[in-house]
Amino acid sequence: MRMTVIGCGYLGAVHAACMAELGHDVVGVDVDPEKIAALQAARAPFYEPGLPELLERTMASGRLRFTTDIAEAAGSRVHFICVGTPQKKGEFAADLRFVDAAVNSLLPHVGPGELVVGKSTVPVGTASRLAAALQAAQPEAHLVWNPEFLREGFAVQDTLAPDRLVYGLPGGTAQQAAKAVMDEVYATPLSRDTPLVVTDYQTAELVKVAANSFLATKISFINAMAELCETVNADITSLADAIGHDDRIGRKFLNAGLGFGGGCLPKDIRAFMARAGELGADQTLTFLREVDSINMRRRIRMVDLAREVCEGSLIGRRVAVLGAAFKPDSDDIRDSPALNVAAQIRLQGGDVVLTDPAALDNARKALPDIAYAETVEEAVAGAHVVLLLTEWKQYRELAPEALAPLVAEKRILDGRNALDPTRWRTAGWTYRALGRPR
Ligand code: UGA
Repeated sequence: MRMTVIGCGYLGAVHAACMAELGHDVVGVDVDPEKIAALQAARAPFYEPGLPELLERTMASGRLRFTTDIAEAAGSRVHFICVGTPQKKGEFAADLRFVDAAVNSLLPHVGPGELVVGKSTVPVGTASRLAAALQAAQPEAHLVWNPEFLREGFAVQDTLAPDRLVYGLPGGTAQQAAKAVMDEVYATPLSRDTPLVVTDYQTAELVKVAANSFLATKISFINAMAELCETVNADITSLADAIGHDDRIGRKFLNAGLGFGGGCLPKDIRAFMARAGELGADQTLTFLREVDSINMRRRIRMVDLAREVCEGSLIGRRVAVLGAAFKPDSDDIRDSPALNVAAQIRLQGGDVVLTDPAALDNARKALPDIAYAETVEEAVAGAHVVLLLTEWKQYRELAPEALAPLVAEKRILDGRNALDPTRWRTAGWTYRALGRPR
């Protein structure tokens, strides 16, 4: 099937390559010429495991190409909208500028019988509004809302083998035809057993933000328990293991530490609260405000802990920060807890030296007034305290004996509960973590 993917960021680039992998003929469109130039050369414009190989393979097959010219959407059976919906500056609400621009530029090129399929995370009600615009421009085309649940770092795998598919379909006579096209899009051996939820636009839109709100709530719940563990010197990791054995709770997303960041969870819960307010249902989601506050408090606590182990002041203290990305296997620093902590420590007079295996370039641009190092060894040289803030595999595997001769003081703060406290303490280090006994 010939299809268009509009927006070639973390979502769209992966979606386009995966659709080509499934055998479709795909054109990816983006307004950013730099991004398109990279993709045209089969280079991923961001770090995502497996994506470079997939791009190379699908582009060599001739099934995937990229352009800045939206007119090339003409003739596609399906047009996916994959642009970002960031948080508005100074407000909680989502900024729909890119969605509206993408749809408006697409409309003149949509033909009869074609589908426009929204994948971006949007406030409930957006799909109906876009469907009306589509109807006005091309009465014989239809809109489907098909939210995406991929995780960065696992984006290729999540797209090719999703947990579930959700189709928000138009009502009336268009429904069956729209569903048949969607089934053809995802008709692969992999998705044959994928659970499918067929519903209306507003439910499909809500599913996405409800899922992300639940995940954020789960993380903040365990981080609230971590705060209590700190008060009574209990151990959050044992607590999470113990409650996680109950299948109704589950151990996943109960990793306490610095909390959630990234381009999705933080802005999605805020946009959800803002939308509920607009709908006159603000009370319904006030708990998400608390979810957000618990999350932000963890960052402050980490800075306080660093100051505490440095005898009450960070001024002139050399602080090695391991990690800038909002999570491992990503170069994404949007709302990164690690970078936020590094910035706060700098503000309090600490001499920060930060390293990260993938996000250094992005971090340098966002936070130019700290020092950067290419390697862990360089970063920790002469450090008064080492902070592990993003749990990259290579940081989890660090050996206390190897780092000891490099640092000025053997102190490590584990912001992600990624290290074995006994091992570090036995090697003579002061080990502190969020939610674990001293
Ligand atoms: C999230 C959702 O997990 C995806 O299902 C969704 O599709 C995506 O947002 C989106 O809306 O596009 P992502 O932002 O890639 O995916 O990252 P997550 O793996 O959810 O992690 C989010 C943050 O939570 C990270 O900062 C991570 O370090 C933190 N986290 C995660 C914890 O602090 N504890 C945990 O137990 C799990």
